[in-house]
Amino acid sequence: MSILVLGGAGYIGANAVDALIEKNYKVVVLDNLSTGFQQAVHAQARFYKGDIRDKALLQQIFREEQVEAVLHFAALSLGRESVEQPMKYFSNNVYGTQVLLEVMAEFEVRHIVFSSSATVYGNSAIGRVDELTATAPLNPYGQSKVMMETMMHWADQAGQLSFVALRYFNVAGAKKDGTLGEVRPRLIPIALRVAQGRQDKMTILGDDYHTADGTCIRDYIHVSDLVAAHLLALEYLIQGGQSEIFNLGSAQGYSNLEVIKAVRKITGAEVLVTIKPRVPGDADSLVASSQKISSILGWQAKQSNIEEIIADAWKFQQFYPEGYQY
Ligand SMILES: NC(=O)c1ccc[n+]([C@@H]2O[C@H](COP(=O)([O-])OP(=O)(O)OC[C@H]3O[C@@H](n4cnc5c(N)ncnc54)[C@H](O)[C@@H]3O)[C@@H](O)[C@H]2O)c1
Repeated sequence: MSILVLGGAGYIGANAVDALIEKNYKVVVLDNLSTGFQQAVHAQARFYKGDIRDKALLQQIFREEQVEAVLHFAALSLGRESVEQPMKYFSNNVYGTQVLLEVMAEFEVRHIVFSSSATVYGNSAIGRVDELTATAPLNPYGQSKVMMETMMHWADQAGQLSFVALRYFNVAGAKKDGTLGEVRPRLIPIALRVAQGRQDKMTILGDDYHTADGTCIRDYIHVSDLVAAHLLALEYLIQGGQSEIFNLGSAQGYSNLEVIKAVRKITGAEVLVTIKPRVPGDADSLVASSQKISSILGWQAKQSNIEEIIADAWKFQQFYPEGYQY
């Protein structure tokens, strides 16, 4: 029996594949490499290049690989791009998940751990966000995650499957040895490129949020802590656990300027920052309550201290200064 990892060549998926193989799972990866890198996929995983919307290919994989459970990371996930090209997001994320759920039902595969996002909460969150907070997505990307969760809920109600949807906050950091990390231009990778002298300076959007230093506050979770939660969720479902939605964050908030300060401390570099106007719709502060996942799955963040996150991401940046192509 094998675990099918959709999007297993992406940042988080590749870390999950690595962790599954370390735990002796047999792993199969399907990824269309739209934002992922085949070099990041563990050599012991069986790799298929293709799209989750390709039903015939999914059926072939389910038939040949004896899939026991699915980890579903495959999605487009750029909020601003989704505003400009909404149908691209609904096709890839929502229709892709529909095809997947149809094939899972056909082959009676009953367990799925799904990457959702704190972006489903939009601006409705005040203080620490728990799972009872209303969903109010501000862009098609967030809406697509709500729709994917909804589809899984109804597939569950129809008796087809049980799922765990993990609503990630800001995932960051890299595998401890620095070999698997994030290539996409987000706050920490960009700051590390500046620290390395590959970029002169960086931009922070907005210093007029209702926070102590005026920059917005986010919750950063180490990718290894996040992956550990997937393994617990997978084991929980295999042992007969019922469907659940969990927030997944460190429950610690850091402002953008606090993150930059930590990058300066870890790298010893100056990291020049310019401030530009904020983007409409960004919340002042988004910090998770991870109480539910702690009490039901026994999960705890162990490596999500911001300095540890940055130190591991810095190792990756030094390993692959221009991403996996070098
Ligand atoms: N990184 C974060 O902070 C964060 C936060 C919240 C949620 N998420 C979610 O976690 C998941 C993984 O995110 P990531 O940061 O690793 O992104 P990523 O872009 O690195 O990984 C996504 C992977 O899925 C693949 N993919 C996308 N569409 C596909 C399709 N139709 N068929 C086959 N493969 C496809 C991509 O090629 C890529 O390898 C995504 O679902 C994302 O929405 C990420």
